[in-house]
Amino acid sequence: MNIDFSTKLAKNIEEVEIRTAVLDTVNALCESARDIAKICAKGPLEAAFGDVAGTENSDGDSQKALDVRSDEIITAALKTVPVAYYASEERDDIITLEHGLPLAVASDPLDGSSNIDTNVSIGTIFAIFPAVENDPEASFLRKGSEQVAGGFFVYGPQTSLVITTGDGTELYILDWMSGKFKLAVPAMRISESAHEFAINASNFNHWHPPVRAYIEDAMKGADGPMGKKQGMRWVGSLVADANRILMRGGLFMYPADDRKGYEAGRLRILYEAHPVAFVIEQAGGKASNGTDRILDIKQDSLHERVPFVFGSVDMVEQVGEYHINAV
Ligand code: F6P
Repeated sequence: MNIDFSTKLAKNIEEVEIRTAVLDTVNALCESARDIAKICAKGPLEAAFGDVAGTENSDGDSQKALDVRSDEIITAALKTVPVAYYASEERDDIITLEHGLPLAVASDPLDGSSNIDTNVSIGTIFAIFPAVENDPEASFLRKGSEQVAGGFFVYGPQTSLVITTGDGTELYILDWMSGKFKLAVPAMRISESAHEFAINASNFNHWHPPVRAYIEDAMKGADGPMGKKQGMRWVGSLVADANRILMRGGLFMYPADDRKGYEAGRLRILYEAHPVAFVIEQAGGKASNGTDRILDIKQDSLHERVPFVFGSVDMVEQVGEYHINAV
């Protein structure tokens, strides 16, 4: 075992075959994460660590050597557990591992890869669905609320796992001495009295009016309509920004904007928004596309993007009000 599971995780999954398969799969992902974390820790000492692999993934993002390596590690691990289909942000198409097995796993194998060279936290995101028999596409093109498990690993000062199976969000930390992920926080709760927002402010001139209005008002601090001084943070790795919000609250936004290719923002529904929204909601937070709940969105294609807003409930709701009032 690569993880000391809490007595609670996956107990809410009624079907025993699915429950066991989820735990096996998470255990395999923990092994992959430990391997990826080891490579990350070596940084430039590892050959071709952050070099551009000379290719682009299906979203047009440049691929780094570590993106490709992480994807290979996860693919190999998933072949050992009851997973029928694997969809990766790094691949154009779904891989069929073995028809007839109970699960389908989607992953962004190395999130935040533009930060690889800079020794800033990066991670692996995953979403686990019950497989639809003999139908790889239908296994992934569905609402986020149909996930049986979702979460992410962070490769930072600590190597950690944030995970939910739909009954609360747990935080595990890798204990390098034993090689096991150990439970650190059994029930994460997102603070409601938060005063930090995260957005790539360099896109200000491209934002649509409601987002611009919200950020302008937030910047007015205690004298503005929000009546409080707010701080700004932007790591540029979704996993690191999400982890901070889980630990101390706040707001994350990657909105749609008027740049070509950003008509639905930057982040992918399947590989990023669905699993992050799942852990955020299960920790008492909220996740939307500005107006609608992320987990209710069903994408039409594998690599579809979505404007993504998540964090403390009141902040996400306030962003929603700016959108509604702008109509
Ligand atoms: O999807 C990859 C990603 O690196 C996320 O981890 C992060 O939140 C976002 O893109 C950063 O985008 P930008 O470089 O446009 O700020």
